[in-house]
Amino acid sequence: MKRVLILGSTGSIGRQALEVIKQHPEEFKVVGLSAFDNSELLAQQANEFKPSMVAIVRDSSCISELLNYKCHIITGEDAPARLVEACAADIVLNSIVGIAGLMPTVSALKKGVTLALANKESMVTAGEIIVSMAREKNTAILPVDSEHSAIFQCLQKPEGYGEIKRIILTASGGPFRDYTVDMLKDVTVDQALKHPTWSMGQKITIDSATLMNKGFEVIEAHWFFGVEYDDIEVVIHPESVVHSMVEFIDGAVLAQMGVPDMRLPIQYALSYPQRLRGMIKPLDLRGLTLTFRKPDCEKFRCLQLAYDAALKGGTYPAVLNAANEVLVDLFLKGALRFLDIPVFIEEALNRHSPIYNPSLEDIIYADWRTRDAVKKMVVN
Ligand SMILES: NC(=O)c1ccc[n+]([C@@H]2O[C@H](COP(=O)([O-])OP(=O)(O)OC[C@H]3O[C@@H](n4cnc5c(N)ncnc54)[C@H](OP(=O)(O)O)[C@@H]3O)[C@@H](O)[C@H]2O)c1
Repeated sequence: MKRVLILGSTGSIGRQALEVIKQHPEEFKVVGLSAFDNSELLAQQANEFKPSMVAIVRDSSCISELLNYKCHIITGEDAPARLVEACAADIVLNSIVGIAGLMPTVSALKKGVTLALANKESMVTAGEIIVSMAREKNTAILPVDSEHSAIFQCLQKPEGYGEIKRIILTASGGPFRDYTVDMLKDVTVDQALKHPTWSMGQKITIDSATLMNKGFEVIEAHWFFGVEYDDIEVVIHPESVVHSMVEFIDGAVLAQMGVPDMRLPIQYALSYPQRLRGMIKPLDLRGLTLTFRKPDCEKFRCLQLAYDAALKGGTYPAVLNAANEVLVDLFLKGALRFLDIPVFIEEALNRHSPIYNPSLEDIIYADWRTRDAVKKMVVN
């Protein structure tokens, strides 16, 4: 039985991971859960799955009073990372949103625990450090993102990573894929939150609408699979049935397909290298038309900005991420227009003095400086 620690258990990925675990009680045991400030849901989950430890960053409604059993509680800004250090687990699922997931990722790798990584911001900001830490500790990092899980599934033996020619990442295109630039000027938060195929947390849903999410996934794919940026292509695939593809050196293209449901890639990461009985609807190909087209990087500038930052390397991807986190938050609060997101990200990247081969501290400092700079830019 695998002992599973879920960071960000109250979020979209975390809740679906618990559904998967509930379906396979003989395979998994929850040993730790964490949240930011949703004490009520965290306590409810803990009372059901009985982990020995929970962590909460802001214990707004006093979790100890909501728990109906004896459980060790960790609180404070670094609570998730301390939970990883303290809890004996076989696998850590990091489904925290944003750069807040970086230090818990580092803690899992330092400890040498298998990491199922949904927190793409860790890979985007510190991919090189993370990959080399994993190599040093001989620790597996398993992708949870559906696209990277698809590629990972296509890359199981006998093919190896050496035979990859190209990775083709599919993107639904988000709710605005058929909008003109003129129509994008006045889109509302509610419209941006209506994703056509996936149901996800708010931040990633906005990132999907701007295509920044796909840009992040390009960076993630580079670090996960060691493929150069020129060999990672994005295609818009509105049906979200092909979750991504790998082209091999002999011209063969393998795709992983299925109905869009995150419980499949979550389960695959948790059960790997085994496959377990699934809980998603079967794919019915009859009557289905699958379409693919080039993304419009003029209209969705975030995708191009991500490629540019990735190619420049150093602290640029951390700046890209920090600016994006601040701007998405402002957009969600109604304080910024949709099309201003790429404008301010570009300005932040242009103003940045990069550090190449950055340490973790350099990355955290670049993140902090960018947040401050972007907030000032927006106000002025
Ligand atoms: N949702 C998807 O389908 C999907 C697909 C692929 C990849 N991902 C990636 O998975 C990650 C999680 O996405 P999500 O959609 O599940 O997000 P979400 O629904 O917003 O959930 C985020 C989780 O992180 C916790 N959290 C937020 N801020 C935190 C902080 N500063 N410190 C510690 N914990 C914090 C939240 O706790 P509270 O509930 O207490 O706020 C919640 O448990 C993201 O990196 C996303 O890009 C998501």
